[in-house]
Amino acid sequence: MTVVLSYQTKQAIDCWLTKYPPEQRQSGVLFALKLVQEENGGWLTENLMDAVAAYLKMPKIAVYEVASFYSLFELKPIGRHKICVCTNIACQLCGAEEIVEHLEKRLGIKMGETTQDGRFTLKGVECLAACGGAPMMQIGPVYYENLTPEIVDTLLEKIEQEPGKHGE
Ligand code: FES
Repeated sequence: MTVVLSYQTKQAIDCWLTKYPPEQRQSGVLFALKLVQEENGGWLTENLMDAVAAYLKMPKIAVYEVASFYSLFELKPIGRHKICVCTNIACQLCGAEEIVEHLEKRLGIKMGETTQDGRFTLKGVECLAACGGAPMMQIGPVYYENLTPEIVDTLLEKIEQEPGKHGE
């Protein structure tokens, strides 16, 4: 199936591309993938990546490489809340392992999995450049730092009380 980017998506990409020389359209690949991923509920299909490749006049394989390299991108459906826990060195030294164990136990899933109700996906990521607040995690666009199991519980309770995006 051929996917064509919407007029609005193309406009947003074109606006971003004004930062670069006209012959450097591929410079917009991160922005374009991030945008289409958001529009697609948090993950990228092969068709969407192909559409980005076509629009930026890039080889498909180059787009796949970018999408599979960055932990920002998802290549399969995810939960409505993606919890990215930093497991890099500063966070490890400050208790990331305990945070991961706590999250896995509380959500009943392992890292890389999604809860059956589709609410949460748990993901281990490399340094998110907030080492001063280690251990930390990111949910959506927001960073949560200096985590303890108690703080994690409070955050999850708050999220669980929020109405779902799909009218739950
Ligand atoms: S090591 Fe965790 S934010 Fe840098």
